[in-house]
Amino acid sequence: MLRGGVLRFAGIRTRLMSSVAQPRLKSFKIYRWNPDQPEVKPKLQEFKVDLNNCGPMILDALLKIKDEQDASLTFRRSCREGICGSCAMNIGGRNTLACLCKIDQDTSKKVKIYPLPHMFIVKDLVPDMTNFYQQYKSVKPWLQRTSYPKDGKEVLQSIEDRKKLDGLYECILCACCSTSCPSYWWNQEEYLGPAVLMQSYRWLVDSRDQATQERRDMLNNSMSLYRCHTIMNCTKTCPKGLNPGEAIAKIKQQLAFQ
Ligand SMILES: *[C@@H]1O[C@H](CO)[C@@H](O)[C@H](O)[C@H]1NC(C)=O
Ligand SMILES: *[C@@H]1O[C@H](CO)[C@@H](O)[C@H](O)[C@H]1NC(C)=O
Ligand code: SF4
Ligand code: SF4
Ligand code: FES
Repeated sequence: MLRGGVLRFAGIRTRLMSSVAQPRLKSFKIYRWNPDQPEVKPKLQEFKVDLNNCGPMILDALLKIKDEQDASLTFRRSCREGICGSCAMNIGGRNTLACLCKIDQDTSKKVKIYPLPHMFIVKDLVPDMTNFYQQYKSVKPWLQRTSYPKDGKEVLQSIEDRKKLDGLYECILCACCSTSCPSYWWNQEEYLGPAVLMQSYRWLVDSRDQATQERRDMLNNSMSLYRCHTIMNCTKTCPKGLNPGEAIAKIKQQLAFQ
């Protein structure tokens, strides 16, 4: 016991000494655009952060830059634990959540940070989500029923039927998947995109929902669903490890074999 304590103390002392000695400056190149200066073109601005005094995630670095170097740097965040979905952005070429994305500790590599691709930008790293949320609303993401149990109690669901919702309900609507999808890039007005389609499927397979036919009819046109060409960018990029590409394939099956 005593020996363990001594070793631990020695370890702490070593870490403190090295942090005083050598700053480890990492470069972050961040997309900047200010709507109040529309004549100034968007640019990448470089910031250096000492990793010895920074938390492990990209969001930690962004907050540190905003606190200590440039308070005008603008981005969304809330939960810092992958639950709210607000810190979605393009980091090192991949759409992901800044709060779940570890900083590569190799200080010789610069990291580039852009907003989610092919979106209208409100400011810096903040995309306009209006169209995305309207599309979500359009699939009526709530339980629809016309009849209710006679005893006035809950609508029951078997354990098996409940399992069909796993891998679907966990989506945090961060839009990382939809904004990685080339079909969504080019047809954002009409194609619903993987995030919204997966939520549509989440209600299509819910045994308690009674609007199944209406939900199917809504997707049965050339644009809403069938713009998906199974490129699978969506599944590759999902920071929650979900599979919207598969959900879309299952909707197509349902429509083909009903
Ligand atoms: C998605 O796929 C396209 C073409 O397959 C590729 O060029 C692009 O980099 C991918 N985008 C993202 C954000 O994953
Ligand atoms: C989809 O619409 C076409 C006509 O546009 C119809 O023939 C087909 O039965 C519909 N499919 C489903 C699954 O509703
Ligand atoms: S599988 Fe479909 S939704 Fe996913 S990226 Fe490809 S085209 Fe887009
Ligand atoms: S499926 Fe994944 S990437 Fe797409 S919105 Fe949901 S959590 Fe985000
Ligand atoms: S801050 Fe909530 S998901 Fe990143």
